[in-house]
Amino acid sequence: MKITQAIILTAVLSGLCQFCLAAEPLQAYTRASISLNGEWKIIVDPYETGYYNYRQQPYDEQNNSWSEGFYADKKMENPYDLIEYNFDKSPSLNVPGDWNTQNPHFFYYEGTIWYRKVFDTPQIKNGERLFLYFGAVNYRADVYLNGKKLGVHLGGFTPFHFEITGMLREKTNSLVVKVDNKRFKEGVPTVNTDWWNYGGITRDVKLIILPASFIRDYFIHLESVKSRLISGFINIDPAEAGKKVTISLPELNLKAISVTDDKGIARFSIVANKLILWSPEKPKLYKLIITMGSDTLTDDAGFRTIKASGRQIFLNDQPVFLKGICIHDEYAAEGGGRVNSAWKAEKLISWAQELGCNFVRLAHYPHSEDMVRIAEKKGIMVWSEIPVYWTIDFENEATYNNAANQLTENIQRDRNRANIIIWSLANETPVNEKRTMFITRLVDKARSLDNTRLISAALEKHYLNDTLAAVEDPLASILDVVSFNEYIGWYDGLPDKCLRVKWHIPYDKPVIISEFGGDAKYGLRGGRFDRWTEDFQEDIYIKTLIMIKQIEGLCGLSPWILADFRSPRRPLGGIQDGFNRKGLYSEKGEKKKAFYILQDYYKNANNKMEK
Ligand code: GCU
Repeated sequence: MKITQAIILTAVLSGLCQFCLAAEPLQAYTRASISLNGEWKIIVDPYETGYYNYRQQPYDEQNNSWSEGFYADKKMENPYDLIEYNFDKSPSLNVPGDWNTQNPHFFYYEGTIWYRKVFDTPQIKNGERLFLYFGAVNYRADVYLNGKKLGVHLGGFTPFHFEITGMLREKTNSLVVKVDNKRFKEGVPTVNTDWWNYGGITRDVKLIILPASFIRDYFIHLESVKSRLISGFINIDPAEAGKKVTISLPELNLKAISVTDDKGIARFSIVANKLILWSPEKPKLYKLIITMGSDTLTDDAGFRTIKASGRQIFLNDQPVFLKGICIHDEYAAEGGGRVNSAWKAEKLISWAQELGCNFVRLAHYPHSEDMVRIAEKKGIMVWSEIPVYWTIDFENEATYNNAANQLTENIQRDRNRANIIIWSLANETPVNEKRTMFITRLVDKARSLDNTRLISAALEKHYLNDTLAAVEDPLASILDVVSFNEYIGWYDGLPDKCLRVKWHIPYDKPVIISEFGGDAKYGLRGGRFDRWTEDFQEDIYIKTLIMIKQIEGLCGLSPWILADFRSPRRPLGGIQDGFNRKGLYSEKGEKKKAFYILQDYYKNANNKMEK
C-alpha cells in the first residue's frame, strides 16, 4: 500500500478523517468497468450493534476490539468462537435500489443496514490502478474493504470513490458498506423534507481499472457562438508536469495538443467553425476523444452557450422560453422507489416530452447520471439542484462543508453535460443573515467550479398588501436568474385569487416560476371548488397561466410536479395515502385534466419570452 493511502487510512482509523469529503473527481460514466451491482447480503442493524460496543464506542476506532464490527465479516473458525453475525446466512437486497420498496418490512425503515458483497480480484496488469466507485448511497456510507475502513461519505445523491490499488486479495474480497439513512438536524437535507427518505445503495457500484497515469477529469465548453471557440482543461493523476494530452473531435476533424502543468492540468482551446450547436430542437452530440500516454477517455460532448442578459435568458444567443416541469428522482409505478435504471429515467423524460417540455427541474437533489444524459440526448435542458432544502442548520460549519461537498460532486460529475443550464443552490430557505451568508458562499463555490452556467435558487414570495405579491430576497442580487415558488390557489387562497394578484419583482433579471400547482387524486372529479379533484387542480393551472402573463421577464416555468410521489407528510386517507398528489400524472402514469392545460400552453408558447 502506498504511503499516502496508509496515511489516509490511519487518519480514518483514528477518526481524524471524520468525513472524507471532496475527494478528487473521477469521470467514470464512460469508463470500462466491472459491475458490483446485483444481490448483496444485508444485516438490518437499528441499534448499530455492528458498529458500536456497549459503551457506544465505535469498534473501528478501538484497536483492541476492531474485529467485533460487522465490517470485519468474520467467519467462525472454532466451535467456541463467539461471532453474533453471519452475512452468508443473512437476507439480500438488490443494488442499485432503495430498501424501502424492495421489502415491506423496510418501507418506513430509517437506520443502518449493512451491505456485503464478495468479489474476486479482476485481472490487473502490472502498474495499473483500481478504483471502487459508488453512484450514490443515501445517506451516510461507511465503507470497508477486507475489514479495513476506506472512508465515509455523507450525502445521498452524488458519486464518490476510493482508490483500492494493492488492497485486494486474489479471491473473496469482502466489501462492506454501513448505510445509514437516519435524518439529523445538521444534515443536508435536514430532518424534514416533502419526499420519501429512501435508504440504500441506490445507484451503481463498480470497479474501474485505470493506467498508472490516467485522465481523471476534464471540462470542455463553448466560449461563444460567434467565435466557435471551444476551450477547457484536462486533469491527470498523478499530477505530473510535461505530459502530452490530445483532445480530438473526429467528426469535425479537429485535434488539439496540450501539455500538463505541475498540477497535472492541461488547458486547451480549439476553433470549431463547422460546429452544430446543441439545442432542444437539435441536441447534437460529438464523440470526444482524450488521450494521454496509454490512457484514452471517450465521451459525448454537446456545445452551446447559456447566458442571462437583462430580463432574458439566451441559448446560443437566441432568447429561450423554458417550458418545464419539476421531477423527483422516483418512478412510483410498479412498486416505485428511487430511479435505479436507465429505462425508468427514460420513462420520466418521455412523460415530460409528452407534456411538451424543453426543460426539467430535477428536484431537490442531483438525479442519476442516466437521467441527465438521457435528457441531454433528447434535447431537454436541466435545472440541477443540491438539497439545501427549507431550514437546514445554516449556522453549522460542518453543514456548510457537507453542502459544499455535494455541490462540488454534482458539478464535477455533470459540468460536461450540454443540457445542464442552471445550478440551483437552495429551495425555499428562510430569509435571514446566516442563510444568506451560507448560500452566498455556495454561489462563489459554484462559480469557481463552473463559470459557464446560470446560478439560481427557488426563492419564496410574500405580500406587500392583500393582492400585491413580491419576490424580494437579498439572494436575488447575486443570482443570475430570480426563481420563486408560489402556490396561489392551493396553499394561498382559492384559484380565483390568481386573477386578483399583481406581482412586484424588482430585479432586472430573468424570472422563472420554479413551482406552482395543487393536489388532485387521479379520477376524482367534481366542481372547481372541490379540493383534491382533478377539476380543482385544472382550475389552478388555468388561472395561474392567466396571472403570469403580467410578469415582466418571465423566461420559464417548472410547475410542481410531473408525477405524484411518495411523502411521509401526506397521510390523508383515501386521497393522499402517503403520496403528494400535485403530479400532472398519477404515480402510475395516468394523465390528469391539468396535464392538458399545460400541454396546450406549451404547444402555443413560442421560444421567445411570453408577453
Ligand atoms: C414546496 C416544496 C416541494 C413540496 C411542495 C408541496 O414548494 O418545494 O418540495 O413538495 O411545496 O408542498 O407540495
